[in-house]
Amino acid sequence: MTGSLQHRDYPLEAWYAAAWDVEAKPELLARTICDTPIVLYRRSDDRVVALHDECWHRMLPLSMGTLVGDELRCGYHGLRYDGFGQCVFMPWEDKPRPDACVRSFPAVERHRLIWLWMGDPRKADPALIPDLHWNDDPGWAADGRVSRVGCNYKLLIDNLLDFSHENVVHGSDEDIGFLPDPPIREQRSVSVALRQENVEAPPFWQRELGSTDNVDRWLISRFVLPSIVTTEVGVAPTGAGGLTGNRNASLSGFVLSAVTPETAVSCNYFWSFSRDFRLRSQALTSTLRERVASIFEPDQVVLEAQQCSMERNPGRDLRNINVDSAVRIARELIEEALLEEGRLAQPR
Ligand code: FES
Ligand SMILES: [Fe+2]
Repeated sequence: MTGSLQHRDYPLEAWYAAAWDVEAKPELLARTICDTPIVLYRRSDDRVVALHDECWHRMLPLSMGTLVGDELRCGYHGLRYDGFGQCVFMPWEDKPRPDACVRSFPAVERHRLIWLWMGDPRKADPALIPDLHWNDDPGWAADGRVSRVGCNYKLLIDNLLDFSHENVVHGSDEDIGFLPDPPIREQRSVSVALRQENVEAPPFWQRELGSTDNVDRWLISRFVLPSIVTTEVGVAPTGAGGLTGNRNASLSGFVLSAVTPETAVSCNYFWSFSRDFRLRSQALTSTLRERVASIFEPDQVVLEAQQCSMERNPGRDLRNINVDSAVRIARELIEEALLEEGRLAQPR
C-alpha cells in the first residue's frame, strides 16, 4: 500500500499552502489544490479571497474573468461574485437568484503564505495552521519560491525525509556513511536526525564561522501532517552543546517545505531557506535561495521520472529498506489521517 497510485490520497481536513503572500494581488490567480480549481485574489482591505474556479452559470473558470473593485466578474456573461462567492449581479434579471453562488474556501495569511482549508469549513481552525514562523520571524532571514513538480506529493515528502540520496543525486563529496538516529514519531509528526561530532566544517560554514576548527553538525528533518517538512542544518564549535540543542554558539538554517497536492500526479512545492545569522545581508538571502533552487533541480528530475515509472506500473508498490524508516512513518501518519476522515478502507 505504500506506493501505488491513488487518487485523492491526501487529508482534506487540513490547511494547505496555496500561494506566497506576494503572489496574492488584486488580480486573479488560478491554482489547483487537492484536485479542486481555485481562483485567488486580494481584496482592497488586504484580505485574500479563494473561490471555486467555476462559474455557477455555465462553468467558465472564473479566473478568466476580471476584478471590478472587490467583485469578480465572470468572463462569459458577466455574473459578478463577492468575496464570499455569492452572486451579486446577474445581467437581464431584476436581482441575482439566491442560489447563485460558488464555494468559497477559508483563507488565512500566515508566515508569508496563504493557507486554504480544503475540508469542512466549520472545522477550519487557524490554530491548526502548520508552524513555519521561520519565514517571517525577526530572528531569522528567509526567502523562497514555489515550484510545480510533476509527481504525487508523497514522493516529494519521501525525498525531503531521506538523507541517503544526498551523495547519489547531489554528488556531494561527503560520505554520509552512517545511519541517522532512529526516527522519533509523535502524534502528527516524525523527526529524523543525523548528528556528527568533531568533524571538519564544509567551506560555506567555515566562512560563516570565520574558523577552520572542527565543529559539531546536525541535520534534522521533521514531517508534520498533512504535508510539511522542516529540515534544520546547523553547526557549532565542537563541544559547545549544539548537538544537544544549545543554539547559543551555533549557526543554523532551515529548509522549509510546504507540499500542496495539485492532482494525483503533481504538486506545488512552496520552499524557502531561513537562517539565523547575517540577517541583514539581502545578498546572502538571495544567494541561499538560488542555491536551494539549484540543489532541488536534480531531485525534480528523479521525482518526475519516478512518477512516470509508477504510472506505467499501476498497483506496483514501492519498497522500503533501512533508509526509508522515517518515510514509512510519514506515510503511516498520512494513512491514519485518511482513515480518520473515513477515506481509506480499514486495514484487514
Ligand atoms: S458562464 Fe459565467 S456568467 Fe455565464
Ligand atoms: Fe535532494
